[in-house]
Amino acid sequence: RRAAPPMAAIGAGGVATSPILTHLRERCATPLPVLRRVADAMAAEMRAGLVSDGAGDLPMILSYVDSLPSGDEKGAFYALDLGGTNFRVLKVQLGGRDGRVVETELQYAQIPQELMFGTTEELFDFIASELARFVSKEGGRSLHLPQGKKWELGFTFSFPVKQTSVDSGILIKWTKGFSVSGTAGRDVVACLNEAMERQGLDMRVSALVNDTVATLAGAHYYDEDVMVAVILGTGTNACYIERADAIPKLQGLKPRSGKMIINTEWGAFSGGLPLTEFDKDVDSASVNPGEQIFEKTISGMYLGEIVRRILLKMAKDNALFGDSVPQKLSTPFILGTPCLCAMQQDDTDDLTAVGAILSDTTGAQSSLKEREVVVEVCDTIVRRAGRLAGAGIVGILQKMEEDSHGLVLGRRTVVAMDGGLYEHYPQYRRYIQDAVTELLGQKTSENIVIDHNKDGSGIGAALLAAANSKYVG
Ligand code: GLC
Repeated sequence: RRAAPPMAAIGAGGVATSPILTHLRERCATPLPVLRRVADAMAAEMRAGLVSDGAGDLPMILSYVDSLPSGDEKGAFYALDLGGTNFRVLKVQLGGRDGRVVETELQYAQIPQELMFGTTEELFDFIASELARFVSKEGGRSLHLPQGKKWELGFTFSFPVKQTSVDSGILIKWTKGFSVSGTAGRDVVACLNEAMERQGLDMRVSALVNDTVATLAGAHYYDEDVMVAVILGTGTNACYIERADAIPKLQGLKPRSGKMIINTEWGAFSGGLPLTEFDKDVDSASVNPGEQIFEKTISGMYLGEIVRRILLKMAKDNALFGDSVPQKLSTPFILGTPCLCAMQQDDTDDLTAVGAILSDTTGAQSSLKEREVVVEVCDTIVRRAGRLAGAGIVGILQKMEEDSHGLVLGRRTVVAMDGGLYEHYPQYRRYIQDAVTELLGQKTSENIVIDHNKDGSGIGAALLAAANSKYVG
């Protein structure tokens, strides 16, 4: 396994002495004071956002999830998960205290590229038709529903939604490259209901939840010390359990448990980040310029693109790939974050995989020294991202700690993590942990368990549908 090659090895060849690389390393550095500044700013923005909407960078969305699944939930529930380009449907059979989750069925589908830029009806018709296909496929095995009841559905919708209750919410804006017309400002549950009706599907949405919230619920079901959930995938976000008395914008609304999950939408954060001109270019070329700056610095959709822009600039300055610019290096998003990850795992002496990936994606022919530079660029961007994600996590813990007087950092507290970037990128995971340890110190950081919770959001959504079932009580 390869992190970055030692600096001296690169410097010796001359290639890595490129002023761009030196500048990049300086601009992307995240020493402790920078991490601290980011963690403090995150905590301050959280506070501001809890007072009123729009008071800070962070939306701090009320999820209306005020009681987490108890373990007593029983019955069959569906879950529909629209996260980004992937989308999945599940059926979960909950067995109550003794049986717990006894059955899950899965169907994955890709959201066709054109639907990300189409109309609301086209997108929701596609989702509802996939759901109908799933239901008809497993129809023979469905349990018989008592008369007058409908199947209930947990709808995980991983975009910022202003919730008006646990089962309704208005899309604030699209993120992660989606640009579907006519959805912002509309209740996404109503959009889904209309599309389900057009498909002849008789289901009801009992819970509308963000993927972070579903992940927290799913993980908390098995471990009551889970207090925070973080997604690091195409996009990024975090949610946590907040005390009602720390949420002024509840304005008298009293959560049943005295607590509520808050969806921070931390992707919108921008305070004190070490950014470069390449980040600014990625932002201005995006469908949402000026928005989601933290997301554009640390999440999977953008890391490859930042690296591509750096390599392009170096190639244009004759600091890489001889004196001609590889043709496909100018194509936006040609270098995906999984390519960065694969290049960083290359442990061959001559970096064979790095050479092959560069040639396959961009057409570049590279020398060993150039490949080393490329790995160094990847590592610089990924190290910054992972360490900033770690600082964000500490910001949340710090805010919770201040309000609970020692009930978070002084005891075992679990942060449930999910998302492809976290799951597949070992260096990224290590950089998160490094930053958390540096910020909290060795002893305190041992209380904080950062734990992968794979696909907990599907089960979490079904559990929340059950916990908010229309037929209970
Ligand atoms: C984006 C969305 C957010 C989601 C995150 C992870 O930031 O705005 O709602 O949780 O991606 O999927």
